[in-house]
Amino acid sequence: MEAIILVGGFGTRLRPLTYTVPKPLLPLANIPMVERMVRNLPPIFDTAILAVNYGLEEMEKYFENKNIGKKIIIVPEEEPLGTGGAMRNCIEHVTGTVAVFNGDVVSSINLEEMLEQHIKENAKGTLALWEVDDPSRFGVVELKGNKIMQFQEKPEKGTEVSNLINAGTYLLELEILEMIPPNQKISIERDIYPKIAGNRLYGFPFEGYFIDSGTPESYLEANFKSLGKDGTASHSGASIRGNCLIDKNVKLIDCIIGPNAIIGPGVKLEKCVIRNSVILSEVEGYGCVIENSIIGPKILLKEDKKQALIAPEGEITF
Ligand code: GTP
Repeated sequence: MEAIILVGGFGTRLRPLTYTVPKPLLPLANIPMVERMVRNLPPIFDTAILAVNYGLEEMEKYFENKNIGKKIIIVPEEEPLGTGGAMRNCIEHVTGTVAVFNGDVVSSINLEEMLEQHIKENAKGTLALWEVDDPSRFGVVELKGNKIMQFQEKPEKGTEVSNLINAGTYLLELEILEMIPPNQKISIERDIYPKIAGNRLYGFPFEGYFIDSGTPESYLEANFKSLGKDGTASHSGASIRGNCLIDKNVKLIDCIIGPNAIIGPGVKLEKCVIRNSVILSEVEGYGCVIENSIIGPKILLKEDKKQALIAPEGEITF
């Protein structure tokens, strides 16, 4: 069975990081987002199809000669085709029911249960749904039983038909991909799903966690969620507080790390304090306190705060 992973967006909300590293190759707990997603696919999936526009060269280079237990097919788009156009562009590699993922979603969804429901209902499409307190910034879905009756785009407060939003994970029959006009910019959420609401389109609400890791704040959150409880217990050059992950190729001298710190390969830090932050590869720093920030890659942290690339609500002091 194939899974299409949509990894072609510009990642504008994570600029300037995404100027140098395409969002799907940004790490979550030191493993690139897209690789993590492929590794997490249940065994029933033997092939991951990556729909790529922005970052094509980097993606091809990354997956060249890399064995992660699934066949990887990279499908380029000359122009960004939107979520619907991008999946339509992959159709020649799809042999039947296909799973489609927004490449930046980190969630606890149980795909095997979702597939069971999809088959049982004889669905054309099944959309994973997530409940939120305030759905007014999202695409909202009305369910009757498991059937999707209608969609509402960013409803005004008080007019929302439910609190369930589209969680960016779908199971689709080929006939839905065939409905999408080829070589055109199409949004599956806005241009296709509303047309088939009420016609064998189902929802699969799930609980646990759902993070769209596309903003600095949610990228940090997704990192700590991906880290789970598998942190590094100790390091000879640092006192470690709470749950942290430090790559084996990191040099630390006289540092305090954590809670919630992830440090990538090639990093060298001396007399630094790192809390609630992600330090990407090959960052070097001396004498600073970093909080609630994403740094790097390849940043030299030396008495110049401007060089710290993204600090959502963060603080860097020297
Ligand atoms: P922002 O620019 O920060 O909104 O990020 P983004 O470009 O990733 O857009 P968004 O988060 O809305 O996209 C959701 C998912 O669809 C992401 O995994 C994107 O990589 C992917 N995506 C969005 N547009 C396209 C496209 O035109 N082609 C392909 N292949 N993927 C896309």
